[in-house]
Amino acid sequence: MNNIRRPDTMERITTAALADAFIDEQVAAIRAQVGEKKVLLALSGGVDSSVVAALLIRAIGRQLVCVHVNHGLLRKGEPEQVIEVFRGQMNANLIYVDATDRFLNKLAGVTDPEEKRKIIGGEFIQVFAEEARKQDGIEFLAQGTIWPDILESEQGIKAHHNAGGLPEDMQFELVEPVRILFKDEVRMVGKQLGLPDNMVYRQPFPGPGLGVRCPGAITRDRLEAVRESDAILREEFAKNGLEGKVWQYFTVVPDFKSTGIKNGARSFEWPVIIRAVNSKDAITATVEDVPFALMSRIVDRIIHEVPGVNRVLYDFTPKPTATIEYE
Ligand code: XMP
Repeated sequence: MNNIRRPDTMERITTAALADAFIDEQVAAIRAQVGEKKVLLALSGGVDSSVVAALLIRAIGRQLVCVHVNHGLLRKGEPEQVIEVFRGQMNANLIYVDATDRFLNKLAGVTDPEEKRKIIGGEFIQVFAEEARKQDGIEFLAQGTIWPDILESEQGIKAHHNAGGLPEDMQFELVEPVRILFKDEVRMVGKQLGLPDNMVYRQPFPGPGLGVRCPGAITRDRLEAVRESDAILREEFAKNGLEGKVWQYFTVVPDFKSTGIKNGARSFEWPVIIRAVNSKDAITATVEDVPFALMSRIVDRIIHEVPGVNRVLYDFTPKPTATIEYE
């Protein structure tokens, strides 16, 4: 199944009927490949892994073992939604691992961005491998590889995280049911499989999660300020029709404090930086022109609702020169 390529003649999946046909085809292919065996999947809650999970559940039900690792760097409500949608609504065989302490302890005091990324990636594989070892009879590993991943790795643009560096003794046959699809097609298929819109149309979110939005050494209190301010931003963008219109938006809480006034007394607290950008391919990005009134409302909510914050800034910088994320 690993060398399957997108046929040049394949019609772009732009309608519910085409998505349904693809689903039927893949369900049959998965059943033929897997038979009665078990399949393991790292379910992050991102679009690709969620759609793969939904497809496999349709094809083989509880023969799919999903592992959702909460590295403590997810957005507010994300692990809860994964559990609710997959365990609650789809009756998935879902293992939920709250590894927050493990990740945050390893990251304590680490300031270098690349080192932080390495720790998060390495620890993720370890936790996933540990859970996999507890399972009997797994013969397949499902992955949310999509067609642009294949093209980019062939062109040498980025190394694809295929089979993500699992230990040598843990080699599984791959199941990659959305491998020939473009992102918009994956979303179409996910919608037809009944996944909620906020999962299917969600904005890009980096693997290292909020860790790259808490620059420098991550502390639990500053991470909480990132999570809470991000939740407010997302809520206000959704209420005001910007969800799905703005390509990516989030908050960052840098590791410095400034003087302010709260309840008539001096405060010395963090700023929150808001970033909202538009892009097609993440290679360049322009800044969203957020209406002033909405910005004022978001600032008001953040300074009143997020502990430890007394100031809010807007990042007006396009990419280049700035990257979208801060680390
Ligand atoms: P930058 O910051 O390089 O980000 O302008 C471009 C896009 O890629 C996302 N991004 C990541 N996605 N793992 C991911 O899966 C990562 O380590 C990572 N770093 C950045 C970023 O959110 C933006 O959409």
